[in-house]
Amino acid sequence: MSTIVKTPSDIAYIRHAARILADVLKEVENRIQPGIKTNELDSFCNDMILSKGCVPAFKGYRGYPACVCISINDQVIHGLPGTSIIQDGDIVSVDIGVNYSGYYADAARTFSVGNISREKARLITAARKCLELSIKKTVPGNRVGDISWAIQDSARSFGVLTVNEYSGHGVGINLHEKPHIPNFGKPGTGEVLKKGMILAIEPMVTSGNGKVVTAEDGWTVVTQDGSPSAHFEDTVLITDDEPIVLTEF
Ligand code: CO
Repeated sequence: MSTIVKTPSDIAYIRHAARILADVLKEVENRIQPGIKTNELDSFCNDMILSKGCVPAFKGYRGYPACVCISINDQVIHGLPGTSIIQDGDIVSVDIGVNYSGYYADAARTFSVGNISREKARLITAARKCLELSIKKTVPGNRVGDISWAIQDSARSFGVLTVNEYSGHGVGINLHEKPHIPNFGKPGTGEVLKKGMILAIEPMVTSGNGKVVTAEDGWTVVTQDGSPSAHFEDTVLITDDEPIVLTEF
């Protein structure tokens, strides 16, 4: 089965999920500060998503026990919220999935807390730029490899490495759909993109060797060498014109 092309009705629902998601991310950005626990941010997201008539898409997904993923410093993705306290100098990646009436959106941002090191600031800039440049490639007639290459090449231009064990993906009718969108690849290869496809593009970058391991909680993915990492993700609709970033905020 190839990538699902969404109907206008599908798109309307997915857009709504994405709009709520962007609003939640904005509120998280306002609340993230030294002293707050990751499980407090998680329950804020849970309450806000439910109050908007949506459901947190990650809760229960493959047994995931929390609402959102919060990954601090060397934690790359899937950080399980708990009693860790966010501190000045941290970079904090918050990854949120929203289900509205069975339709899904998925997005993440890495936020800086107080004064962060130049190394961490560079990672945030690099991850944002990888996402921005790869979205420009998300147009009909291009291929998945064009997106992947844009991510890889932009990371290189910042002198950082992509994390290659995890990928972006189609999204909308399910949380994860075809195609896989690796954070590395070759231009002109892979599935051809079409109008109506919706993709979750999610570059992760690190200043270290790019290798990752799963922590003892069974979820949190950390860099093997302890280097910090940043993660940006948006849900993007392919149109005949410019791609539309449904989770923009
Ligand atoms: Co995703």
